[in-house]
Amino acid sequence: MRQVYLDNNATTPLHPEVVEAMLPCLLTEFGNPSSIHWAGRQTSTMLQQARAQVADLLNAQPHEIIFTSCGSEGDNFALLGSVEALQGKGNHIITSAVEHSAILDTCRYFEEHGGRVTYLPVDSHGAIDPAAVEAAIDSDTILISLMWANNETGTVFPIEKIAAIAQQHQIRFHTDAVQALGRLPIDVKRCQIDLLTVSAHKIGGPKGVGAVYVRDGVEIAPYIHGGHQERRLRAGTHNVPGIVGFGRACVWAQEHLDSETKRLTALRDRLEEGICSRLKYVSRNGDRHNCLPNTLNLTFPYVEGEGLLLALDMLGIAVSSGSACTSGVEGASHVLRAMHADDMTLNSSVRLSLGFHNTAEDVDYVIQHLPAAVERLLAMSPAFDDLNQYDCEVISCEIDPHSH
Ligand SMILES: Cc1ncc(COP(=O)(O)O)c(C=O)c1O
Repeated sequence: MRQVYLDNNATTPLHPEVVEAMLPCLLTEFGNPSSIHWAGRQTSTMLQQARAQVADLLNAQPHEIIFTSCGSEGDNFALLGSVEALQGKGNHIITSAVEHSAILDTCRYFEEHGGRVTYLPVDSHGAIDPAAVEAAIDSDTILISLMWANNETGTVFPIEKIAAIAQQHQIRFHTDAVQALGRLPIDVKRCQIDLLTVSAHKIGGPKGVGAVYVRDGVEIAPYIHGGHQERRLRAGTHNVPGIVGFGRACVWAQEHLDSETKRLTALRDRLEEGICSRLKYVSRNGDRHNCLPNTLNLTFPYVEGEGLLLALDMLGIAVSSGSACTSGVEGASHVLRAMHADDMTLNSSVRLSLGFHNTAEDVDYVIQHLPAAVERLLAMSPAFDDLNQYDCEVISCEIDPHSH
């Protein structure tokens, strides 16, 4: 049976070039890069090269990159490190209701310790209004943290505008760019970003490594205490193979950004059109005009999302029925909920996210099998007859050929 992996917002396979770059660190180059002898110097050189490669993709300087163990750690570091460094200057953070749990749970932790957080709402497409960001600022605000692109719907926030607002008000701006990295052009200098989180495993790099861009001059408190690594901001012996793999994945992303954007957009549109033209009842979630090129979040009314996920799994097709981190956990997507989704949408949505390894044949396989799986589940759905009463205009797919 063919296996088609369309869950690249959860994680991606490794690029073969990444594996090749990592192999020497797993086989022969084992030194601790903090050691001053020959073995340490070997890996120290590799570490510095990887730092420059990650920096290049963001248009940052190498010393502005702090390696972490993952995107979640990066988000925790950016928020809690800022709160500690800015103690006495204010006690209020602005974020959005649709952030990843690495931000939302850290914000809740901040609230439990006396902080104040504004969770900005989004519209029905998951979009945010920059004017609402500005309106939420008060004299107590120390940080604005808003994601670049949403992991569930692919909706892209107007980061450049928001960063400009933050700068005007002299408020620190952090963005979680875990899903944007390698999928959208990122230029931290042009966008006036203070802190930015990224993660290797979303771009064909290894799991267990991430980074935070900390703009020159931005004061931040250490998150892990111990050694002198990472400018004393993040102690711990470096994960050299992971970091080297991350660097190589960034090189790949930079070289292929334009071509992959075009290719993935075309594949995503083919997928959408193929599915939507074969089904009467289906709708797309998110902002189709400001969306990651690889992400498609669809609602199949009266078909339970988890049920469809399992039916597709049996056909060798891997998708997600929410964010990977919440799949299998009780409770509907907080992202769709924040978009004022009705119960139907909350229960009946799946996310298909493409990656560098996906081909037109993969897409065609899904087009061949997914609509039939939906029809089968629909026929078994006790509420199937209600479909005739459902507002067809709301759930029509509305393929817009000019949107990309
Ligand atoms: C937007 C976003 N932020 C943060 C993370 C966490 O990254 P990591 O898995 O490297 O901890 C994810 C992972 O899904 C994500 O999608």
